[in-house]
Amino acid sequence: MRSLKRWLAIAALGLGLTSLAQGSGKLEIFSWWAGDEGPALQALIDLYKKRYPGVEVINATVTGGSGVNARAVLKTRMLGGDPPDSFQVHAGQELIGTWVVADRMEDLSSLFRQEGWTTKFPKGLLDLLSYKGGIWSVPVNIHRSNVMWYNPAKLKEWGVTPPKTWAEFLATCQTLKGKGLEAPLALGENWTQQHLWESVALGILGADDWARLWRGQLKFNDPKMLNVWNTFGKVLDCANKDAAGLSWQQAIDRVIEGTSAFNIMGDWAAGYMTTTKKLEPGTGFGWAPSPGTSGVFMMLSDSFGLPKGVKNRTNVINWLKLLGSKEGQDTFNPLKGSIAARTDSDPSKYSIYSQAAMKDWKSNKIVGSLVHGAVAPESFMSQFGTVMEIYLNGKNAQAAANAAQAIATQVGIGR
Ligand code: GAL
Repeated sequence: MRSLKRWLAIAALGLGLTSLAQGSGKLEIFSWWAGDEGPALQALIDLYKKRYPGVEVINATVTGGSGVNARAVLKTRMLGGDPPDSFQVHAGQELIGTWVVADRMEDLSSLFRQEGWTTKFPKGLLDLLSYKGGIWSVPVNIHRSNVMWYNPAKLKEWGVTPPKTWAEFLATCQTLKGKGLEAPLALGENWTQQHLWESVALGILGADDWARLWRGQLKFNDPKMLNVWNTFGKVLDCANKDAAGLSWQQAIDRVIEGTSAFNIMGDWAAGYMTTTKKLEPGTGFGWAPSPGTSGVFMMLSDSFGLPKGVKNRTNVINWLKLLGSKEGQDTFNPLKGSIAARTDSDPSKYSIYSQAAMKDWKSNKIVGSLVHGAVAPESFMSQFGTVMEIYLNGKNAQAAANAAQAIATQVGIGR
């Protein structure tokens, strides 16, 4: 009898501990991974629910590629004292320059030490996440910005190969126009035009000058930058005129359908084409570094942090642990088109596109993306749209270059 009682007591204790480990309450995850961009996040949430079935996960998404709309909603919530439990943010200046300097985030360096992450993520990435002795978010992936996508069967039919420089691109564009293709380049809404710009700039400047730009060593109105804007203008002449109304997925669709030949987009496009469109990399779609950027990997990383004063702190810590884990990263990234941020991920779980990206990530020169938060403070990024408008209004390279330099000076790029 006594031993039965003891057994029951131990069992009860066991149950108590289990339910504690399984967690309770809610976890709100805020991101822009909605619709077609959702499957990878959903797989991660499913894994979380399996580990912590007692937690109600709220998947709060705000549609809009590259976070154009989500960032505005996030700002309102953060300033209004209603932070989501955890939110998607790009590693680098996008987080550091906003919510970290405003003292709204918890320092996660003890979590990084506890989980052994200081040796599991590449040093350059840890540097990007760090500021004033703290580490401020957990990276879930590495995306590549400078990729050119095409449809191999169509290129064959048209008798062209992926151009290796922007000059070659412009020549190929003329060839394709000659064959009746109205818009050899498929382009989408506003932010995707800026995305194209950063690939043109990298291709014209090269990795070293691109990096010098963000250290304040190359001026935005240097003659080299005029060359960037002028080339960009010519590249735009190869694109569809209805770009403003297309999402990045709709622009990619035109390449898949064969109404355009090329699209410059980050490798979430690989995720979309494999996971949503069920295309085989290599046959269903092809890829190459955007013109002039062979040997250079323009990176960005999606990460999640812990805002101060959230309602469900323990659940967030468990979420962060999962997305920084090998299992979490190798669940999320094969569906997303990105590669793991961790250095010990299992390549056999990834497509041949991602395996190629993994190789490049290890061997290429690494630079950071402007549009996706790595190199410039939000204050520059948000005003870069105005620079783009100035250029598009008059196609005046000098005016755009001067405006960019004025903003760079104002926000203190390189200071
Ligand atoms: C990027 C983000 C990617 C992808 C893309 C399109 O900024 O890092 O994960 O979501 O936007 O929305």
